[in-house]
Amino acid sequence: MADEVIGTKEVNFQDREVPDETVGEVFVNNPRMTARNVSVYYAEKLAVDDVTLDVGSSEVIAFVGPSGCGKSTLLRCFNRMNDTIDICRMEGKINIDGDDINDPKIDVVSLRARVGMVFQKPNPFPKSIFDNIAYGPRIHGLARDSVELDEIVERSLERAGLWSEVKDRLDQPGTSLSGGQQQRLCIARAIAVGPEVILMDEPCSALDPIATAKVEELISELREQYSIVIVTHSMQQAARVSDRTAYFHLGKLVEVGETKQIFTRPVHRLTEDYITGRFG
Ligand SMILES: Nc1ncnc2c1ncn2[C@@H]1O[C@H](COP(=O)(O)OP(=O)(O)OP(=O)(O)O)[C@@H](O)[C@H]1O
Ligand SMILES: [Mg+2]
Repeated sequence: MADEVIGTKEVNFQDREVPDETVGEVFVNNPRMTARNVSVYYAEKLAVDDVTLDVGSSEVIAFVGPSGCGKSTLLRCFNRMNDTIDICRMEGKINIDGDDINDPKIDVVSLRARVGMVFQKPNPFPKSIFDNIAYGPRIHGLARDSVELDEIVERSLERAGLWSEVKDRLDQPGTSLSGGQQQRLCIARAIAVGPEVILMDEPCSALDPIATAKVEELISELREQYSIVIVTHSMQQAARVSDRTAYFHLGKLVEVGETKQIFTRPVHRLTEDYITGRFG
């Protein structure tokens, strides 16, 4: 079968085969990351079953589906967070900008700077607000001197919508902030190392509605520059913040499409049952 050119990349035709179970358009024109036939096992147990999906540049894609369907497991594949789990094994291929992230030549620390992660529970380091943000840039040598480091810290906090709230207390512990502020601090920390992709695993589930609204607003601003993959149990949140939505069921990607379509005209019965609250 002839190869074809999509965007600037040559893609082997076989790379574009969609598993039978998935309905909707899994491919995008300008992918930042591509997952091809990804399956993940914990020991013998299959947690993610043959998922093929693109993450576009400058898009927010939401992963939704019932508890245990493999959303977090798949999300963690994108920056090799599952490497830390002994019994976890991935099959298939994930690329970022065309590079295989599981290639032995790839440095995992650099990969995790390119593909940052924000967790369910805010997890600031036991350090000052300033040092929480400065930590990554220091490790990666991103600032030539302290002036540049100050600039990176200010810019990251500014972009995370936190600067005005913390600029007079940068030396206080990150943990002294409110939960919502801590989550924005963690987003600022991810931004500080200049990522391409930010993975968020239920980033608002520990936050009150006002803090949630602030994080959602932030996601909408960040989408201009970053690709964001967000796992959420809130259908309203998925509808508010995402461009595309992917619905998972028992490890399979059942349906993916424009968020508006998924929520108004789902094609698959399982998707419809879930979004209308009949299941999950
Ligand atoms: N560290 C682990 N060891 C063994 N099994 C695991 C581990 N983490 C997840 N699993 C299993 O893999 C499957 C997928 O789990 P995962 O956490 O990815 O689901 P999820 O969709 O994120 O669920 P939730 O919405 O509850 O967060 C589940 O059956 C879960 O029990
Ligand atoms: Mg999860």
